[in-house]
Amino acid sequence: MNTLPEKFTFTLDGQSVTARSGQSIMEAADAAGIYIPRLCDTEGLKPQGSCRVCVVKLNGRTVAACTQPARPESSVESETPEIQQYRRDLVRMLFHEGNHLCPICEASGRCELQAMGYRLGITQATKYPYLQPVRPVDATHPDIVLDTNRCILCGRCIRASRDLDGKNVFEYVGRGVHKKVGVNGANLADTNVSIHDRAIALETCPVGCIIQKGKGFFAPIGNRQFDLTPIGDKVDPGKGSKGK
Ligand code: FES
Repeated sequence: MNTLPEKFTFTLDGQSVTARSGQSIMEAADAAGIYIPRLCDTEGLKPQGSCRVCVVKLNGRTVAACTQPARPESSVESETPEIQQYRRDLVRMLFHEGNHLCPICEASGRCELQAMGYRLGITQATKYPYLQPVRPVDATHPDIVLDTNRCILCGRCIRASRDLDGKNVFEYVGRGVHKKVGVNGANLADTNVSIHDRAIALETCPVGCIIQKGKGFFAPIGNRQFDLTPIGDKVDPGKGSKGK
C-alpha cells in the first residue's frame, strides 16, 4: 500500500502548494490562498463532487478538485483558458436548466450561482436553449419556502439535513432532466424540518431555492455579501473579478 508523507508539495498553475496527507486539491489550494471555483462544495459538508465547477487538470486528466486527493509532485492546472471555459459552460447550463430570474429573486446579491457567473465573466447566458421548467413552489411550511425552480441540485440541503441535522428531510427524486430535490413527505409542512436546521441556514442553499419566510430582503440589494465582495474573496481577497 502506498502511504503518503504527512506533508508534501504539488504545483498549482506553476505555484508550489503544500498539502497534508488526506487533503483534497481544493483544501490544499484554499490553505494556500488560491481559490478554485465551486458550487456544490461548502465548508462543513462532505464534498460530493456533483457540480464539476471545481474542474481542474491533474497531470493532464480532468478531475473535481473538491473530491480529488492532492498527490505529491503532481501538476494541477486550474486557471487556464480551457478550464475557465469548461466552468463557464457548466455555469451557463445551470442558468438554462432552471428558472433563474435574478432581478426578482430574493437571493440576488447573496446567490453563489449569480456570483459565480460574475466571477467567471459570464455577461449573458444565451448559449443554450432555456428549458423553462414548470415546478410547483412549496410554501406549506409556516417558516420556510421551497422553490425548486431555482435549485441547482448541489445537494447541500440534502447533506446538511442528513449529516448535520440527522433528519433526512431532503432527497433527490426523479432522473435526468426530471431530477429535483424532494422532501420526505407530501410537502414541507408534513416533514420535521425546522427553521433552525442547518439545512435551512442561509449559507447552506447557494441560490434562492430555500427561503426563510419573514426574512425576505433582510439586507438591501446592493449591500449584500456578493454585492460587496466577489465570491471566493475569503480565499483570495481582491482577485475575484479577474476571471474573464
Ligand atoms: Fe467540486 Fe462541485 S465543488 S464538484
